[in-house]
Formats: sequence, C-alpha cells, structure tokens
Amino acid sequence: MATPTGKGTIVAAELTKVYNGKVRAVDGVSFEVAQGEVYGFLGPNGAGKTTTVAVLTAGLSATSGQATVDGIDVLRHPEDVKRRIGIVFQEMTSDGDLTGRENLELAAALYGVPRSEVASRVNGLLERMQVADAADRLAKTYSGGMRRRLELAVGTVHSPGVLFLDEPTLGLDPQGRAGFWKYVQELRREHGMTVFVTTHYLEEADGMCDRIAIIDHGRIVASGTPAELKDRLGGDIVTVRPLAAGPDLTPLLKAVPGVLTVTAQDGSYRVKCPNGEGLVPKLVEACARSNVSLAGVSLKRPSLDEVFLEFTGREFREDEGFSATDRAVMLGRVQNQLGGRR
Ligand SMILES: Nc1ncnc2c1ncn2[C@@H]1O[C@H](COP(=O)(O)OP(=O)(O)OP(=O)(O)O)[C@@H](O)[C@H]1O
Ligand SMILES: [Mg+2]
Repeated sequence: MATPTGKGTIVAAELTKVYNGKVRAVDGVSFEVAQGEVYGFLGPNGAGKTTTVAVLTAGLSATSGQATVDGIDVLRHPEDVKRRIGIVFQEMTSDGDLTGRENLELAAALYGVPRSEVASRVNGLLERMQVADAADRLAKTYSGGMRRRLELAVGTVHSPGVLFLDEPTLGLDPQGRAGFWKYVQELRREHGMTVFVTTHYLEEADGMCDRIAIIDHGRIVASGTPAELKDRLGGDIVTVRPLAAGPDLTPLLKAVPGVLTVTAQDGSYRVKCPNGEGLVPKLVEACARSNVSLAGVSLKRPSLDEVFLEFTGREFREDEGFSATDRAVMLGRVQNQLGGRR
C-alpha cells in the first residue's frame, strides 16, 4: 500500500469496530482515497464492508481509530460529514409509497438544497436516471433497475463531493449494473466526485474501480489497482501453440527476457510472465528465428477471483441466503422489538 499522507479525501487510520464487545467486524483498517477516485471495498459476506461504510458515513461510531472525510474528523464532527456526503445503501431507502419525484423532493429538503433549485435539480436527475416517465408513479411499482437508479438520484440530489455506495447493484442483472455505473461515472466526471463502493461482484470492482482493497474478516488483506493486484500473482499466462509437434521449446522460450516459468502442456507451452502483452511479440520472434511455425499465441490475465484466492486462501463464493448485513439488520429489529439493546 502507498504511504499514507493523511491528505486523501477519505482517510481511515487503524479503524476498528467491535460489536457488543465481541464481534470484531472491522479490525484495524487503514487506507486513503484520493479526490476523484473510485475506491472499491471487495469482500465476501460478513467481511465488514457495511460496517466500514457505516463508520465512515458517521452512522456508527468506531471503537477505535480515526477517519476523516474531506478533511473533517468523522468521529468528532459527524453532522458536518453527513452534510457533505451522499450515500446509497445496500437496502432500499427510498419510500415505496411515495412517487419517484416525491422521494427526490423529500431528499432535497432534508439535505437543504435551496428551494429555488429543487425543481430543476429533481427534473434533471429524473431525466438523467431515465425515470422521468415514471416520475409520478409510486416507487414500489418501479423495476429493480429503476429503483436502484432512483436510489442513486436520492443519494446525490445535493451534489455531494463524496459518494458512498454499499453494494449498490446487489440483485441487478449485468445490464442493470452497467446502467447504474454509467450514471455514477457521469456524476463523477461532472462533479469530480470521489466514490467509495463496496461490492461482491469481482468483475464490477475490476472494471469500475481505480483502486481496490480486498477485505476479509475485518482486515484489508491486499490493495492496489486491479492490474497491480493481478500482477502480484506473478503475472500473465501466455500460451504458445506450435503448428506441429517438434523438439521441446522450453529452453528456447525460457531464454526470452521477461519469462518467469515455462510449462509444457498438451503440445503447447504455458509461459508465465509479468507483462504478457509486451512479451507476445518477443516469443513469436524467438520462435521465428528458430524456424518454429506457430498455430497460435494467446494471452490470459489472471482474474480477481484468483487474486482473492491467493490472498485469503479461499474461493470467492457468494453465500446463499441472507447477507451478513441483512442478518444484522434483522437481528437488530428482533432485539429492538424485544426491548433489547444492540
Ligand atoms: N449490529 C450488529 N450487531 C452485531 N454484529 C453485527 C452487526 N452488524 C454487523 N455485525 C457483524 O459484523 C460482521 C461484519 O458485518 P458487515 O455487515 O459489516 O459485513 P459485510 O461485509 O457488509 O457483509 P455482506 O456482504 O453480507 O453485506 C459480521 O460478522 C456481522 O454478523
Ligand atoms: Mg454489507
């Protein structure tokens, strides 16, 4: 991880949250997010993602450690932080019994958007999120994708500088997810917004985040750009397939600068290297020099799935059933009903 300067838009230092004196949901997490960056928190159920978001957005107090957002201490000045940020939660927060427009007007009022600007802001967002046609229908009649876009509109109605997204696309199909991200990227481009996002979806983190932290059991086990994380696995795999069986090409391929290992497999060769793209022409050239004709050369970058396996020792698998956050919310409701305390 880069040396923290303490000047990032979001800074967490040894942040820890222990529930009920025993569950270490977040365990000494430190990171920095630069202005305008999209930073992804990637981890399985129960890893501590929602808890981290809740602490950073001043919804929960930390047990220890520090956090600042936009230079403001989250623990000391929670109300100042809340005013500057936008949040889209894992659960729906828009009111299904209000229309899309009413939900937005309500959020605008809560966030103190000047009255004279509310109508144009609300209409602009309804258009942009492609819910304008359904603006005056109850939100509970919206499709999953529409409702998520409405959530995004509600969370950004006050043009926040920092946006927190907790599993914003959970349950959406790939098309719905792509649509949602298109709007996030637009808002980011226009306002230079900083985005902190948690996700289960590896491919989403890979495609959308500038940097990623992999979180497991409340700790960051690896962080970096998606490409850096993949590089740490030892790089790419280039498969070299000769046209015809012939002499063993292992020594020839191994001699090419940049090659780490060569494994012969079913008449072709798996070449591991840090920079596959740059190596392909060199491998082709080496074969040509030795008069070896090739049937094909292919390049495979390791996926984030493999990165996760490498750093946690476990397969990244989504649990069936409820998420840890859902379970915690339900537990809280039951405890509240029983008059217990969380
Ligand atoms: N209010 C709570 N009281 C007690 N334990 C909690 C509470 N909220 C969360 N936890 C526990 O803290 C841990 C982290 O939960 P958290 O919801 O932050 O995980 P998550 O990464 O968001 O998981 P998911 O991907 O399933 O949403 C889990 O073990 C969870 O059971
Ligand atoms: Mg969660």
